[in-house]
Amino acid sequence: MKVVITREISSKAKELFAQNNIDVEIWPNQLPPKPSELKELCKEADGIISMLSDQINKELIDSCSNLKAISNYAVGYNNIDTEYCKEKSIRVGNTPDVLTEATAELALALTLASTRNLVNAHNDTRKGSWKTWEPMGYLGPALKGKTLGIFGMGRIGFSYARKMKLAFDMNIIYTARNKKVEYEKEINAQKVSLEELSKTSDILSIHSPLTDETRGVFNENIFNNMKTTLHLINTARGEIIDQDALVKCLTDNSISGAALDVTTPEPLPLDHPLYKCKNLTLVPHIGSATNEARNEMAELAAKNIINALIGKEMPARIC
Ligand code: NAP
Ligand code: GLV
Ligand code: GLV
Repeated sequence: MKVVITREISSKAKELFAQNNIDVEIWPNQLPPKPSELKELCKEADGIISMLSDQINKELIDSCSNLKAISNYAVGYNNIDTEYCKEKSIRVGNTPDVLTEATAELALALTLASTRNLVNAHNDTRKGSWKTWEPMGYLGPALKGKTLGIFGMGRIGFSYARKMKLAFDMNIIYTARNKKVEYEKEINAQKVSLEELSKTSDILSIHSPLTDETRGVFNENIFNNMKTTLHLINTARGEIIDQDALVKCLTDNSISGAALDVTTPEPLPLDHPLYKCKNLTLVPHIGSATNEARNEMAELAAKNIINALIGKEMPARIC
């Protein structure tokens, strides 16, 4: 049996496949395979560990005649046509839980980076353009006692909200499809409408999956509803925000700042108008990038594939 891993990941995965006598082929390059290269790479694979940058669509699936299992090396799986996988009886897994803390920690870091102007302050210092202590410079809002809105109160949204509650005693409001009774009790959170969330939040952080329902939810109408002092944080998926609308409201300061780990596309082309916004903090999709999370993701992704290939349940199965 043969498994393809579409990028180099922690050697934990290779070790587990070796223990189970499964051959592994790893895409050798730093840049991801192009669609045609992905097809060629995967055509004889029984299992694939895919990255979120790989489009696992009908065409790719149809070109893999032996394919029985896919595991995304991510918790989000909007890059995989799961409906088609179900039709073809191909099992699909992902890597939930093991990256929750890492991603919540990054959301916390981005919140402080945006509100306290850290990147501009750092750049000014390094460039020598900071001349003296500035009584009126680099001002931003305090977090203590402010209202934090969570869009998508799931594993990561809750972990981040709890940290913000404990660290800054913030009031937590959230949207989700279902009420989260346990979470509400633990951090005194309140479920509200999207309208209320956008109107009341001082910090608003996005943690939902990308679906047909969430694509472009943060559009001009929603932005118009927000406080001018709001900071928007996105560690979920770029497509949840209408980026043109975001450029407009960062440019005319109708919100104070945004910090993004995710954009459309990734990376953004260098001439993109978002780069002109001084009130934007941008990092390259590093939510799960702790040593611990990436090792555990490799292990879980490998276990998903191994179990599917030996006829056991995947530890983290989507379909
Ligand atoms: P999760 O536990 O499934 O949480 C997702 C939450 O979003 C759930 O509370 C869900 O509510 C809510 N939701 C779904 N549809 C919604 C809608 N239409 N409106 C409002 N809320 C909605 O997932 P997770 O593990 O926290 O991960 C969340 C997402 O983060 C992933 O899908 C992925 O795209 C992204 N992510 C990014 C990074 C990164 O590197 N930046 C790392 C990890 C994850 P219900 O429970 O009521 O359905
Ligand atoms: C990363 O973006 C993930 O979904 O795990
Ligand atoms: C600032 O450095 C202070 O001492 O207040």
